[in-house]
Amino acid sequence: MASITIRNLDEDVKQALRERAAKNGHSMEEEARLLLSAKPKRSIIPKPAQAINADNTSNKVEKALPKIADAFEDYPAAGKRIVLIITGGIAAYKCLDLIRRLRERGVSVRPVMTKSAHEFITPLSVGALAADKVFTDLFDREDEQDVGHIRLARECDAIVVAPATADIMAKMANGIANDLASTVLLASDRPILIAPAMNPVMWENPATKRNVETLADDGINFIGPKTGEMAESGEAGTGRMAEPLEIVDAIGELLDDRPKPLLGKRAIITAGPTHEPIDPVRYIANRSSGKQGYAIAHALADLGAEVILVSGPVNIDPPNNVGIIKVQTAREMQKAVEMALPADIAIMVAAVADWRTVASADKKMKKKNGKGPSELELTENPDILKGIGHHKKRPSLVIGFAAETNDLIKHASAKLDKKGANWIVANDVSATSGIKGGVMGSDNNRIKLLSKTPNAKDGKKVSVEDWPLMSKKAVAKELALAVADYFNKETITV
Ligand SMILES: Cc1cc2nc3c(=O)[nH]c(=O)nc-3n(C[C@H](O)[C@H](O)[C@H](O)COP(=O)(O)O)c2cc1C
Repeated sequence: MASITIRNLDEDVKQALRERAAKNGHSMEEEARLLLSAKPKRSIIPKPAQAINADNTSNKVEKALPKIADAFEDYPAAGKRIVLIITGGIAAYKCLDLIRRLRERGVSVRPVMTKSAHEFITPLSVGALAADKVFTDLFDREDEQDVGHIRLARECDAIVVAPATADIMAKMANGIANDLASTVLLASDRPILIAPAMNPVMWENPATKRNVETLADDGINFIGPKTGEMAESGEAGTGRMAEPLEIVDAIGELLDDRPKPLLGKRAIITAGPTHEPIDPVRYIANRSSGKQGYAIAHALADLGAEVILVSGPVNIDPPNNVGIIKVQTAREMQKAVEMALPADIAIMVAAVADWRTVASADKKMKKKNGKGPSELELTENPDILKGIGHHKKRPSLVIGFAAETNDLIKHASAKLDKKGANWIVANDVSATSGIKGGVMGSDNNRIKLLSKTPNAKDGKKVSVEDWPLMSKKAVAKELALAVADYFNKETITV
């Protein structure tokens, strides 16, 4: 095993590694691992299941991992194996979608169904979607020749019960093992996640409440139940099963074993444009999509940071692992950033409008019958980056974004000083940036990272790293690793 610290590599080696990583669609860390012939932490190449027992020639529990769809490469539980126990609740039909969503994320799903679950969905559809046999019977002669229930309980990374009926929760809380599902649960030493689903009156029943408390004390993880309309007509309250994607996220969180170098650090990220009202229907805005800021927030949270994302109006879903404050105007954004302090890291990615109208009209402005357009009196918006860079509660690492159409390095270098930032991420947003349609709105980005050079021998005050064209997600990952390195001088073991 060898160790390298990527940020300590010579600039030209680092650049070559960055280019190679971008070309292969990897992060620099993954590329370094591959180059040094070590496995990446989470291989995206499907590999055969681990042999269960060297003496056992039976391959009935052995199962290849599903392929990961490109969009889900980052899913923290990719490559993991779960046993999914489906119990007899009306929400059982949602499990079909859950299985599909887990498999497209590279999770192997081994299904177990209770007898009651068969009343709601068929083992045929469950087995077809999971691409596996459905286990049901505790006393199955074939499976139990080699104590199949114990193998089911142990040969997985986690057990998920969805939906979890009041009945299975009662059994779990009391150590009852009278069918395959409850026996597997009692025999397992793996983490268990349950997604309760039941009628609100069942959920509120003191017996269920006692069971929930016992299960929580026993270290069982819960997702839901949610409050809302129930499948039974006219019923509403708490008891709805969490949606499949929420369960997918909870499984990801449960099985996330990636290194967390930013654990204990708090980051404030701004993203998107601001909308400065002119009247109730018009506003001043810009073309920022928020994609880069959202990706950075996600990447920092993946490394363990507590992230507050202050977002202008955008059309993308926030990452599930960050706190979000939605704002419209620059002044609201500034207030939200102030409220989110103190923090260790501030990355001001938002394209904040430089100006707003002095006063926005409270009624829709009308045309003036050929007398020319109304004049808009503008005033400057607060400079949020500068404010945070000189704040008495200044985060120790302040990073600004500079979107320029000309003299990129000159303008970005000036910003480093003026704004009190440690680093500036400079973006060429001109039509000649080389990115089809321009950086704003695109999924790709080409940035230069500027930082102050301490004690430079050549007299250069600013060092400039030229990053190759990468996806915005890849830029976010690299930037998050650079942030982690800034705090931890983290060594990547390859
Ligand atoms: C139509 C119907 C819907 C049901 N839905 C639920 C439910 O959502 N949650 C629940 O806890 N029980 C529900 N039950 C009751 C369970 O099916 C019953 O308690 C069963 O014994 C559960 O068995 P299991 O936990 O072994 O799957 C429902 C029963 C019927 C007939």
